[in-house]
Amino acid sequence: MFKWLWPSTPPISLEDCQIEFVRVPPRSCLKKWFYRIFVFPLTIPGRIVTTFRLIKQGELREPAAKAMCPMRKFSPLFSAFFSFKITTDASLMKAILRYARKDPKDGLFNDKENGRAILPMLRDMYPGDLITEDDFVLSCNKEWTRLYRQPILKLIGPENMKRHGAALQELAETVLKASWGKGDKISATHLTMIYSTSVISKLLLGHPGPFKTYKTISSALDLLSVFTIKKAWRRPFSQKELKEYEESLEIMRQAIDTAMTTREKPIFGSLVEGIKEKMTPIQMKLTLFTTYFAGSETAASVLCYLLWQLGQHPEVQEEIFQEVSASSKPLHEIAADSKTIDRLFAESIRLFCPGYVINRQPASDILCRATNAEGKVVFQERFGKNETLMCAPAFAARDPTQYPNPNQFNPHRFENPPKTLPWFPFSDGQHTCPGQWLAKAEIAIFVAVIVQQYTITSFPSEEVGQKGYLTLKLAEDIQIALAAR
Ligand code: HEM
Repeated sequence: MFKWLWPSTPPISLEDCQIEFVRVPPRSCLKKWFYRIFVFPLTIPGRIVTTFRLIKQGELREPAAKAMCPMRKFSPLFSAFFSFKITTDASLMKAILRYARKDPKDGLFNDKENGRAILPMLRDMYPGDLITEDDFVLSCNKEWTRLYRQPILKLIGPENMKRHGAALQELAETVLKASWGKGDKISATHLTMIYSTSVISKLLLGHPGPFKTYKTISSALDLLSVFTIKKAWRRPFSQKELKEYEESLEIMRQAIDTAMTTREKPIFGSLVEGIKEKMTPIQMKLTLFTTYFAGSETAASVLCYLLWQLGQHPEVQEEIFQEVSASSKPLHEIAADSKTIDRLFAESIRLFCPGYVINRQPASDILCRATNAEGKVVFQERFGKNETLMCAPAFAARDPTQYPNPNQFNPHRFENPPKTLPWFPFSDGQHTCPGQWLAKAEIAIFVAVIVQQYTITSFPSEEVGQKGYLTLKLAEDIQIALAAR
């Protein structure tokens, strides 16, 4: 019984262990009732305390990371209808993310969250089409996953990004010029959203513009990400919101239709060409929508947060300026190889991690088992069919035992930036983000372009809050003031 209550006592490192998940038969009726009546009630206070402490923080900063029980590998949360267990242990997160979201063959996971959250909005966008979970990369079965991921990876996988540096630089310069000179301060929130949407629209999907269309698309995406959650939680829409929702859906329908029919050859290569043989028309549309949805706001909000930090840290701007001025190579090549920008990126995505929690739901009762080098089982924990396992990159990134003074912005903590970031901001394994190399490249190039030409001051001077929607957002608008060098 003690093991059920406190399964991972004492705290142990699972770093060198082999961790696997296996299906186990459901508990017998007798055991189930014994657990429900005698064991579960004893866990309720702990669940309530952890949940309350997390909610009370309202923020994903250090206290939230500390609110989870340090003795546990998985901290159970309290909810009236569901059961959640959250982990920040790097080895466990890696082990969970190794598996597909849904794999009827191994029967381990069958995650329904993305389908529940996003499919209703997609059905509103294409009401005349029958849309199943398998039509959409974020909710499909394992066998479909490659079909959606491969064409994207082919265009923006790691080996391609160096080739696209010049195009990204040109776009960054254009976006910056278009927003410059309209007053003292520029909204970094809008600037970065327009930039990341233009990258997807123009360079990946060949949307011919004009430029102001990318602005319209970026606003529609911004609204849809908020409305999607509202819709999934069945919150009522006001008349104004309903109108904005309908308009945003129409803008996205048009953007996708344009991308499907454009004769322009996108600079990164044609995603439409890559998918049209293998997918039905609705699967194609949803794939184009996914690249917009997954690729715009995430990259934009990291860049926005990074610009805010840069504006508060002139010494970091100076370091980058010295590095870019010292080389005669093209700017995009300097950006791609820059150690200072790499460190800045790692530290910014540590403190602002858009994919703040990544969920997986077991398809049946499963057991997580960690075995050490001597073959001894050093940790195991059982999960029921209806529990949700939450990997929490944003909390792991602020773990004070891994990152001293975790709330402090200090890019120098990454003197040797790790090849893969150990708190998994881009997930890992089967569903690791196929856009991560593009995101890093577009952000690095934008930083090099802006720092080469201007010094930056950012507002407000107090760090703004972070709010969790489908992805993490900054709670207020960020402004920047630029002074020509
Ligand atoms: C800083 C920017 C970004 C962050 C932090 C980020 C984060 C993530 C995370 C955490 C996941 C995995 C979710 C899971 O395991 O369930 C993911 C998946 C995905 N991302 Fe990104 N992403 C970013 C940028 C991009 C960009 C630029 C694109 C595309 C152009 C993109 C396209 C995708 C797609 C298509 C998936 C689904 C992959 C799958 O389910 O197999 N992302 N992203």
